[in-house]
Amino acid sequence: MNCQIVLVFFVTIWNFSNSWRIFHRGRSVGGNIGQPPETSAPNVPEKWFIQNLDHFNPSDTRTWRQRYFVNDSFFESNGDGPVFLMIGGEGEASKEWMTQGAWIAYAQAFGALCFQLEHRYYGKSHPTEDLGTSNLLYLTSQQALADLANFITSMNDHYNLTSKNKWIAFGGSYPGSLAAWLRLKYPHLVKGAMSASGPLLAKVDFQEYFQVVDDSLATYSDQCVRAVKEGTYEVNTLLRHRIGQLNVNNKFKLCDPVEKSIDNKNDISNLFETLAGNFAGVVQYNKDNRLSKNKTGPNITIDTVCAIMVNDSVGPPVDRLAAVNELILRTSNQSCLDYKYDKMVQQMRNVSWDSEVSEGGRQWTYQTCTEFGFFQSSSYRPQIFGDQFPVDFFIQQCVDIFGPEYKSSFLNYAVNRTNMLYGALDIDVTNVVFVHGSIDPWHALGITETKKKAAPAIYIKGTAHCANMYPPSKNDLPQLAAARRQIYHYIESFIYSNN
Ligand SMILES: *[C@@H]1O[C@H](CO)[C@@H](O)[C@H](O)[C@H]1NC(C)=O
Ligand SMILES: *[C@@H]1O[C@H](CO)[C@@H](O)[C@H](O)[C@H]1NC(C)=O
Ligand SMILES: *[C@@H]1O[C@H](CO)[C@@H](O)[C@H](O)[C@H]1NC(C)=O
Ligand SMILES: *[C@@H]1O[C@H](CO)[C@@H](O)[C@H](O)[C@H]1NC(C)=O
Ligand SMILES: *[C@@H]1O[C@H](CO)[C@@H](O)[C@H](O)[C@H]1NC(C)=O
Ligand SMILES: *[C@@H]1O[C@H](CO)[C@@H](O)[C@H](O)[C@H]1NC(C)=O
Ligand SMILES: *[C@@H]1O[C@H](CO)[C@@H](O)[C@H](O)[C@H]1NC(C)=O
Ligand SMILES: *[C@@H]1O[C@H](CO)[C@@H](O)[C@H](O)[C@H]1NC(C)=O
Repeated sequence: MNCQIVLVFFVTIWNFSNSWRIFHRGRSVGGNIGQPPETSAPNVPEKWFIQNLDHFNPSDTRTWRQRYFVNDSFFESNGDGPVFLMIGGEGEASKEWMTQGAWIAYAQAFGALCFQLEHRYYGKSHPTEDLGTSNLLYLTSQQALADLANFITSMNDHYNLTSKNKWIAFGGSYPGSLAAWLRLKYPHLVKGAMSASGPLLAKVDFQEYFQVVDDSLATYSDQCVRAVKEGTYEVNTLLRHRIGQLNVNNKFKLCDPVEKSIDNKNDISNLFETLAGNFAGVVQYNKDNRLSKNKTGPNITIDTVCAIMVNDSVGPPVDRLAAVNELILRTSNQSCLDYKYDKMVQQMRNVSWDSEVSEGGRQWTYQTCTEFGFFQSSSYRPQIFGDQFPVDFFIQQCVDIFGPEYKSSFLNYAVNRTNMLYGALDIDVTNVVFVHGSIDPWHALGITETKKKAAPAIYIKGTAHCANMYPPSKNDLPQLAAARRQIYHYIESFIYSNN
């Protein structure tokens, strides 16, 4: 699922030996929801479900094996307890969630049976022999929802569940959207849902993303925002002449000399997007409890990067920007910053399940190019990260990775279609609680205000992506702790409601 270790679309931190980015356009490697803090590898067995390949073509009888996990420790068999379903998203499903997290605390209280179903095409759930573009035809949110419906129906049978056992869906990030859409499309199967940080409005140019990053950095100080803007401006200036270019190579530890890329617009866009991504990745996961137990991993927050950005002793703003870049490279174990566009596209074109991009980068990019957009462009003002990664840069990637038909007009139609299918921000549901955090850039595409009582919204001031889903910590903001308790009461009301 995606509030897992680090969703959104990538920015930059290229990672691992092959320089695949850790965080690319708002999606982290592994998907957007993080894992809860690691415990000693929980002994949760892998289970497999025979699933249909194409739910919308009854004459297509092909099937594949979908992975799922169960925790039945709290559930009294043949009792009336509820059934909780954690929806998998744009990354590998994580066993850690089967024993930890807010939903497990709720399950304990309600005596719930817990399932987690991995999303088709992610993790070990491989519906097709490879990730070739023609095989990705079956990678849609509608198919994923139908997978969930089929799964629920089969588990009702398998576990001898009755209409007294009410299903409640949980999801964070893209699965947060799926949780709400599941209740919308299959209300007879799912009694309610907790939808965390779910972007419900599909949009090609998601310029609000960096607007929120800007606002979130401003919660530290306006000086931090100003320094980022000045630093970015100085990078632009340096790139205009030879000596400056050599300077940029050194300061930002570029893997390839930028003077050779100066006329390659895509390389330059990629470079600026990557520098912006250094901040986006930090903001999106600011102080969430993925870090609360195991503190040996990177622990970089808005406070960390802004403390560097406002520190005059580090040098002029461009040097501070470089210091942040260096910190991110170091903590993500990369020796240099890889910004070459062709290399990235080449990697993204790899259709093998053994490739690095099969962790979800290719699949999620496909979903954005065919269903959601969500392109985190530099169009918003005042453009503290510059203006060099406009929405066309992202549409170009769809074309270069998947083919010439995935162009702008296609994308506009695809995004309208998604909004038509689910209702976007006018989604007509009951028994769904929408939860967002003010620091999380994704809240800009979600429901943050209660429009009707039967579908309440909780907007938590000061928290990041999917914060309410992680296990509690003593450092939690009081409003986050309050939100967890409120969600408990909503779940209770959904289980017993007449809706
Ligand atoms: C379910 O979660 C609880 C709480 O973490 C854990 O103690 C228990 O072992 C888990 N049960 C299974 C079957 O995984
Ligand atoms: C469901 O009921 C059948 C028949 O009563 C029984 O054999 C089976 O063990 C039950 N399954 C579970 C998971 O309790
Ligand atoms: C913490 O994370 C590190 C690196 O991922 C790992 O080696 C270590 O075992 C973890 N410690 C605990 C207590 O989980
Ligand atoms: C990580 O950040 C949290 C919250 O800011 C802090 O309490 C903790 O001490 C930090 N851990 C390390 C190792 O810096
Ligand atoms: C500012 O940066 C300097 C040089 O890197 C460092 O020695 C100093 O501790 C920093 N000051 C603060 C307040 O972080
Ligand atoms: C970092 O990279 C080095 C060299 O590629 C590798 O040996 C090491 O295991 C990596 N460390 C982590 C924590 O990924
Ligand atoms: C795809 O990735 C695999 C695994 O890393 C690699 O062996 C293969 O050469 C790559 N294919 C192409 C066409 O790059
Ligand atoms: C998408 O919807 C918008 C707003 O309703 C409309 O202006 C636009 O023409 C539509 N585009 C396509 C390709 O359907």
